[in-house]
Amino acid sequence: MSKSRRKVVLITGASSGIGQACAELLGAHGHAVHGTSRHPRADGAHHRMAVLDVTDEDSVQRAVASVLAAEGRLDVVVNCAGFVMAGAVEDVSVEEAQRQMDTNFFGALRVCRAVLPTMRAQRSGLIVNISSMGGAAGLPFQGLYSASKFALEGMTESLRQEVAAFGIEATLLQPGDVLTRVREYRQRARQSGPGSAYQEAFERVMNLVESGEGAGVPPEHVARKLLALVERQRVDVRYSVGRLSQRIGLVSKRLLPGRTFEHLVMALHGMSRR
Ligand SMILES: NC(=O)c1ccc[n+]([C@@H]2O[C@H](COP(=O)([O-])OP(=O)(O)OC[C@H]3O[C@@H](n4cnc5c(N)ncnc54)[C@H](OP(=O)(O)O)[C@@H]3O)[C@@H](O)[C@H]2O)c1
Repeated sequence: MSKSRRKVVLITGASSGIGQACAELLGAHGHAVHGTSRHPRADGAHHRMAVLDVTDEDSVQRAVASVLAAEGRLDVVVNCAGFVMAGAVEDVSVEEAQRQMDTNFFGALRVCRAVLPTMRAQRSGLIVNISSMGGAAGLPFQGLYSASKFALEGMTESLRQEVAAFGIEATLLQPGDVLTRVREYRQRARQSGPGSAYQEAFERVMNLVESGEGAGVPPEHVARKLLALVERQRVDVRYSVGRLSQRIGLVSKRLLPGRTFEHLVMALHGMSRR
């Protein structure tokens, strides 16, 4: 790849799933990819790995500084680090909700704030924030996860407008179900077990959610979408990626009356009104 087309890329949450697939595919296409994780193990075949904990401001600053020291520039940043806090809204403690927001929303904010001065000076750059279909519609028993992704969506819409004058682009990728380790890393609110008024419905819905994830697309689908975006001059506000049925579901939110769409989401999760 020519030097001008080779992009320097930083990806958070690249130790598994979507982030890892993105790091490998972009690296295999000749981009200089720096993947990150809280506890990096070996480098990938086509990308390096470094330490970055998105909940720790110093860790974010150190990781960005080390990419800049090695490469002298930073063209693409992918905010992928994230996890799901599951539980009824009533069962999630404020401390658990804060942890969810600290990784999924404030983590991406910390990284954006750390890279923007460099991108402004370069007068170029692309920020890709990995949202979710849960960032387009509130999902039952994943309310705090949806809240974190809705926050990421709002911030990205604003950011795009502010940085356009500096030649910087920002966009959202909304994956549907993807077959990753998301199930393994999912945290359950402490109060969601015995004694919760929601326990039976929660367990039923989580079983459905987990079987949907098991039938998810491979993370390489998301990586291919990212690769296409990285090679574009201009990007749109958001892109969805995943099973066609889920992508149609997103479009139906725009077309259907609110209660009708909600009824559909509840039915898909095996829920109904009293
Ligand atoms: N899988 C899906 O169905 C799906 C659907 C829609 C959206 N998404 C979104 O896609 C992103 C990646 O999810 P995935 O399914 O690929 O999950 P995954 O396989 O569980 O990977 C999560 C990644 O996030 C990293 N991470 C977690 N907390 C972190 C922190 N504090 N600092 C730095 N890195 C942290 C983990 O790295 P370490 O533990 O090594 O630090 C890991 O690399 C998430 O934002 C998720 O919300 C996933």
